[in-house]
Amino acid sequence: MAFFMVFLVIFLLLLCISSALLRWNEVRYRKKGLPPGTMGWPVFGETTEFLKQGPNFMKNQRARYGSVFKSHILGCPTIVSMDPDLNRYILMNEAKGLVPGYPQSMLDILGKCNIAAVHGSTHKYMRGALLSLISPTMIREQLLPTIDEFMRIHLSDWDNKIIDIQLKTKEMALLSSLKQIAGSDSSTISQAFMPEFFKLVLGTLSLPIDVPGTNYSRGIQARKNIVSMLRQLIEERRASKETHQDMLGCLMKSEESRYKLTDEEIIDQIITILYSGYETVSTTSMMAVKYLHDHPRVLQELRKEHLAIKEKKRPEDPINLTDLKSMCFTRAVIFETSRLATIVNGVLRKTTEEMELNGFVIPKGWRIYVYTREINYDPFLYLEPLSFNPWRWLDKSRLESQNYLFIFGGGTRQCPGKELGIAEISTFLHYFVTRYRWEEVGGDALMKFPRVEAPNGLHIRVSSY
Ligand code: HEM
Repeated sequence: MAFFMVFLVIFLLLLCISSALLRWNEVRYRKKGLPPGTMGWPVFGETTEFLKQGPNFMKNQRARYGSVFKSHILGCPTIVSMDPDLNRYILMNEAKGLVPGYPQSMLDILGKCNIAAVHGSTHKYMRGALLSLISPTMIREQLLPTIDEFMRIHLSDWDNKIIDIQLKTKEMALLSSLKQIAGSDSSTISQAFMPEFFKLVLGTLSLPIDVPGTNYSRGIQARKNIVSMLRQLIEERRASKETHQDMLGCLMKSEESRYKLTDEEIIDQIITILYSGYETVSTTSMMAVKYLHDHPRVLQELRKEHLAIKEKKRPEDPINLTDLKSMCFTRAVIFETSRLATIVNGVLRKTTEEMELNGFVIPKGWRIYVYTREINYDPFLYLEPLSFNPWRWLDKSRLESQNYLFIFGGGTRQCPGKELGIAEISTFLHYFVTRYRWEEVGGDALMKFPRVEAPNGLHIRVSSY
């Protein structure tokens, strides 16, 4: 009996402390004009619910509070916007004080010159320098031949094997970019580069506390190692005076171009290119393989498109821009994959001053989660939104140009690597579907949130086509 009484007292005490803490956190953030919502626990906020329940947490909060609500996630007081018009407004109006609001760990590890860390005229300059590297002319003359050469080799020798397609597409996204950046030098550094890059990626989404053994600390160290590898490459190239037809060659030649970057800026620009295209391209490619496996009619149509291209060429002829432009169904498969799998759930912004949005007053320094996931499943935009139907994208003038397509972001930060990413995935699919057939080994789990991934890999049994 005495034990029960002690237990009851402790329980009631904990209950009181918990509700006092929750209440204190609500009161702390109670400011006139803020959107409705809950702030959860001090420090942790509602991060656990957000990560555990994912899209359902967002939908439940929207049902209770409307499309714009407040929360406290990933260490910051945050406004979540699920309102398509407000999302568009936020993305179009960086100049009004709605700048990128990515986590500190990401900024520390990607470098202070990386594109997400700079605003205003510096952003314009860094973006201009990047666009000059991945312009349509560069894609046609330099990048597409490099991508083709890479994919042929990367996709050779898969016959009669069980392949982890998640691992293969990750390696593909990184090594293909590295080849575009450093040309033939990439093969010399890739083995040392790859494990460091994987550590860097993990560190970008971690608690920014530099304690040895943490993902953050490993990420910071990986950045240092990557910077030193790139610096050495730059110095060797400068000493040899040879010219190179790759992205680094263009960046180092910047004396002759409009954009002159310091070595530090060149290195951060390279890390930005590698990082931005890595997860997006690899996950879209992996999910395309998954959806094609599950939808034989789509695979048949896609294969038809690629076999027609193959038939018109000699085996050694690379995929060129004309081929790429003729891949209308492939493009549709890529858009439909990005939509249905929701590779990007949203983007982060923060306010540089107090401002009014949709009648609410948002304090200075608050993060805004421009959550775009739900629009991908809007039945008014996409008939039967849960079905995988690439044909819906074939009238390009309609779906690809509608105002609420946020797969590649929007406004001044819209993805500059969109066409490059599509070129990479299309070339991958070309060699994959014309060389192989495959079936899933089965039993591999797929996680959809906070990122799309197969925690134990996605294994397929491959045979030649
Ligand atoms: C399927 C592939 C891709 C998808 C779905 C994708 C998606 C996105 C999205 C949603 C944004 C907006 C971020 C924001 O507003 O904060 C973005 C920005 C960006 N993307 Fe991509 N991306 C892809 C491929 C690539 C590739 C291959 C590159 C390589 C050059 C790249 C480079 C960038 C850069 C540098 C930015 C930042 C632009 C800026 O801040 O001005 N992306 N991307």
